[in-house]
Amino acid sequence: MFRLFRKTERALSGRPDVPLYDLHNHLLAGIDDGAGDSAESGAILTGLAGLGFRGICATPHWNHPRFPEPSVEDTARQLQDLTAIADGLSTGLRNGGEIMMRDNWVESLRDGRLPTIGGVALVEFPFRESTVIEGFEHLVFDFQTRGITLLIAHPERHPDFQRRPGLLERFRARGALLQLDLFSLCGRDGGAAKRLGWHMVRTGLADVAATDIHRADSLPLVEQALNALAARSEKQFVRLLSTNPGHIFCGHPERLIA
Ligand SMILES: [Fe+2]
Repeated sequence: MFRLFRKTERALSGRPDVPLYDLHNHLLAGIDDGAGDSAESGAILTGLAGLGFRGICATPHWNHPRFPEPSVEDTARQLQDLTAIADGLSTGLRNGGEIMMRDNWVESLRDGRLPTIGGVALVEFPFRESTVIEGFEHLVFDFQTRGITLLIAHPERHPDFQRRPGLLERFRARGALLQLDLFSLCGRDGGAAKRLGWHMVRTGLADVAATDIHRADSLPLVEQALNALAARSEKQFVRLLSTNPGHIFCGHPERLIA
């Protein structure tokens, strides 16, 4: 009965009725600037499941100057508690991380000291001008040969990519994947991020869309972005939120659709 209700609700929303996967969010509590406590974690999880998400990978910040590294014990305990809720919502949970590319991140990732999602590393450039390094594509290729694919988090929000969108094609040609924040499509992060975000949708440059949700009160904006994307392109909605993130979530990044 519950399943039927959810299907009908989504059919009425006009969004394709496919399982959605979120590979970037700050669902875990008290680790970074994400959920404040376990009640908020539960609210985010329940809200995302209600919007159709059937697979969620928690990605707290790693190698970030403002936050300590997540502890293994705390992460495991939170995931165990949240899995009990997720099971009742027919939603799968995994653990990952959002790695800031600073200091010794290359060596740490090569040595397996930073988390990946089945060999896909979600990486972000520091949010300052001139932090996207020349020759980054060589690093992308080097990691590829070691079995690690770099998934660049929200490039549309970064000033370097906004100024030089051609870099996106260059990095992608060498094997990088590009993750778009849903919030960018609603203009939450400014006009330049919104323009580049929609450009990535239109041209097919984006490989994955994700919520990057930090707080439960952002759930209505997630829904707004889902509706906007579905209204613009059903094909990209399915590719960016179901097919491609689903393959990564299930450990098959080689099956991504370009
Ligand atoms: Fe994030």
